[in-house]
Amino acid sequence: MAQLLSAEPTVVVVGGGLAGLSASLEIINEGGRVVLVEGESNTGGNSAKASSGINGAGTDTQEKLGIHDSPELLEKDTLSAGDNENDKSLVKILAEKSAGAVEFLRNVGVDLTDINLCGGHSVPRTHWIPSPKEGRPIPAGFEIMKRLRARINDLQEKNPETIRILTQTKMVDIIRKEGKVVGIEVVSADGEKSKINGASVVLATGGFSADRSSDGLLTEFGKQILDFPSTNGAFARGEGVKIARTLGAKLIGMERIQIHPTAFVDPKEPAAGTKFLAAEALRGKGAILINSEGKRFGNELGRRDYTTARILEHAKPIAESFQGGSAGRHAAVMLMNEATIDAFGRPAFNFYAIVKKFFQKYENSQELAKALNVDESVIKTTLDEYKEIFDGKKEDPFGKKVFPVAAISPSEPIYAAIVVPAIHYTMGGLKIDEHARVIDEQGKPIEGLYAAGEVTGGVHGSNRLGGNSLLECVVFGRIAGNSGFNASRDASRSEL
Ligand SMILES: Cc1cc2nc3c(=O)[nH]c(=O)nc-3n(C[C@H](O)[C@H](O)[C@H](O)COP(=O)(O)OP(=O)(O)OC[C@H]3O[C@@H](n4cnc5c(N)ncnc54)[C@H](O)[C@@H]3O)c2cc1C
Ligand SMILES: *[C@@H]1O[C@H](CO)[C@@H](O)[C@H](O)[C@H]1NC(C)=O
Repeated sequence: MAQLLSAEPTVVVVGGGLAGLSASLEIINEGGRVVLVEGESNTGGNSAKASSGINGAGTDTQEKLGIHDSPELLEKDTLSAGDNENDKSLVKILAEKSAGAVEFLRNVGVDLTDINLCGGHSVPRTHWIPSPKEGRPIPAGFEIMKRLRARINDLQEKNPETIRILTQTKMVDIIRKEGKVVGIEVVSADGEKSKINGASVVLATGGFSADRSSDGLLTEFGKQILDFPSTNGAFARGEGVKIARTLGAKLIGMERIQIHPTAFVDPKEPAAGTKFLAAEALRGKGAILINSEGKRFGNELGRRDYTTARILEHAKPIAESFQGGSAGRHAAVMLMNEATIDAFGRPAFNFYAIVKKFFQKYENSQELAKALNVDESVIKTTLDEYKEIFDGKKEDPFGKKVFPVAAISPSEPIYAAIVVPAIHYTMGGLKIDEHARVIDEQGKPIEGLYAAGEVTGGVHGSNRLGGNSLLECVVFGRIAGNSGFNASRDASRSEL
């Protein structure tokens, strides 16, 4: 049996994020063979940074919690968030296979039994890991990637033929013979070039939110935001997109780049181009935003693009004298009190405040005003006004309708962090069809080439809904793996 297996042609999977590991596991489960190629020293990618969770519509967990949801409703929310620019057939698959995707991850041991309500969703459906009462929080993306890798390692131990994992190995080209993809060219850490043959290739190289070079994709498609920092790892350079493009692959939605309004400014390194995400849940649990003048300037729970625009228009850069400042970038100050921190979860907050030191504590509004170098009364007035709005005595001038958890009192301790907008996610990428085949400029599949995850475009339209990218990685990663496996099986047949 083992011999038969080693005769089986291989599928080359490029990229060890969630899309790549989902594809790999699918291929192994089908009985195929994989060579997984990862440029970094470990698998994980941006997938390991994800903190809000993965969407699933119609799951057991939802049913247990009495949440009524359906694939149709997820489909509707996804299209609405994407301004209907989405590829409708891909969205349908995404929604229909969402409960199965959550199940797939639960089967590798991820405890996705708690559910979040994220912006733009009609019902709570973003599955994550229950927050422990104390101790370390378990971020969803990190745990998902750890468990998937452990499962693959187990399978590899049982049968070493099934998968070879090459880290610190970068794809630099895709090889074709008579129009058909037959492998890739890679460079290893020592600069050595070599070829990896495969019956098919699955691209899972992620997005281009960190591709800032002068000939990079951000320069080409997002010039106006080139100066923004990014929440992504430096490896997010769109290499899969760029290499497939040289083969004639069609790119779609490339200008659709999502800016997240709140990334933390690190007081130790305020100018850093890579920033730590300030999770949306902070504002979801009552954090408010003020500008350098000590005033609110928008609805903290507006859409990502709205809040970003308000910061750029109404929040000036913050001076170095306050917590190190914002290095000249338009920035907001995020404020929390003990009640909102409790609601968000102490362990996760302590990570931001104690380990990363993003938050500083002030005894009251007066002390904060002094530090911010504004008139003593300004922040007190801002907080008093917000309290009146919170209590329903006044309309919010910015249209905020939901007021989570608690209003901060001027006389209690206040925790403050500087946040700035940052490039977060690239909706555009390679056009694929329902079988995850990469489509060329003429509308035909490029034979032997498949793609899944952030390297592709179409699923999210103009704007991605929170929790939908991890979902996309599992759903289309599995489809791409399945297609790639089918192609390798067909190749082995034609050899007989
Ligand atoms: C801070 C943060 C929080 C997020 N939170 C959420 C969330 O809660 N829910 C959600 O749904 N989405 C979230 N997202 C988005 C989501 O995490 C990503 O879009 C998704 O994980 C992308 O997965 P992927 O497998 O396509 O790519 P990645 O996970 O980025 O993996 C791509 C891999 O390919 C490798 N690679 C790239 N080029 C090459 C090459 N030439 N050769 C070899 N290897 C290469 C990279 O090193 C990387 O390991 C978040 C993103 C960030 C940055
Ligand atoms: C792979 O082949 C099987 C039948 O052998 C088929 O059912 C499946 O849909 C194919 N996968 C894809 C993604 O096309």
